[in-house]
Amino acid sequence: MNDPGVDVWRMFSQEFWDDRYSGAPVFSGNPNPWLVHHAEDLTPGTALDVGSGEGADVLWLASRGWHVTGADISPVALARSARLAERAGPRITARVTWQQADMLDFDAPENSFDLVSAQFMHLPGPTLKALHRRLAAAVKPGGTLLLVLHVPPEPGTGNLTFPADMFPTAEQMASVLDPARWTIDAGTHQRPANDATSTTGHTHDVVLHAVRRPAPPRTATTEQRAVSGYWSLTEARWSPGPGKVVADRRWPQ
Ligand SMILES: C[S@@+](CC[C@H](N)C(=O)[O-])C[C@H]1O[C@@H](n2cnc3c(N)ncnc32)[C@H](O)[C@@H]1O
Repeated sequence: MNDPGVDVWRMFSQEFWDDRYSGAPVFSGNPNPWLVHHAEDLTPGTALDVGSGEGADVLWLASRGWHVTGADISPVALARSARLAERAGPRITARVTWQQADMLDFDAPENSFDLVSAQFMHLPGPTLKALHRRLAAAVKPGGTLLLVLHVPPEPGTGNLTFPADMFPTAEQMASVLDPARWTIDAGTHQRPANDATSTTGHTHDVVLHAVRRPAPPRTATTEQRAVSGYWSLTEARWSPGPGKVVADRRWPQ
């Protein structure tokens, strides 16, 4: 039954998630299938996972050689993730960083990561769009942005009334990216048949996979300037004379 009286913003607070993570494990401990699908063939580099939860995606990436920052609002979730990393050994702990951060005002450093992933990191309304913009800016040229969200629950099937804009369509998600700068693949997909992560019964996800186009090659510009005088070949010296135009090749810094 829908309960329009429930404060949806509470679902994005530290208190709510600390409480959820203080009991038995919430998730399966397996990496999310869309992350595995899109990242297993990537060359390891630096990665950021936002809303990292119990850290399964961070640990999976680290086990494949990535240096990963897992960011979440819940210190309880981050402490649980750090314990799992320690159990996985020093090679993994050396590659992971845990950061407590509220995605409502998280300032991801720009041009910093080869992979930015956000799996089921919902936020209400325009705050989600703003987060996606900031996450896109955090991707290095040539890097990958992976955003995965639940499809909206069928009306009347959930026990909460969620704001509709918490569940953007693939097209709405793609609209935050400039197609001139990104190669974008966005759609609604059924979860892979071998999915070992679903604890919620969701069968479909909205998935945006985008690769930031590499920076354009450096090209020289030609700047013309007027000079007064000319180089005399016969006299092998600069001679004053009528103005003319010469061209300078300049390279961007
Ligand atoms: C549905 S869980 C997904 C966890 C993980 N990505 C996964 O797929 O297993 C959403 C995560 O977002 C985190 N979260 C919720 N609101 C947040 C906020 N305002 N800032 C940062 N993280 C938040 C929660 O603590 C939780 O770990």
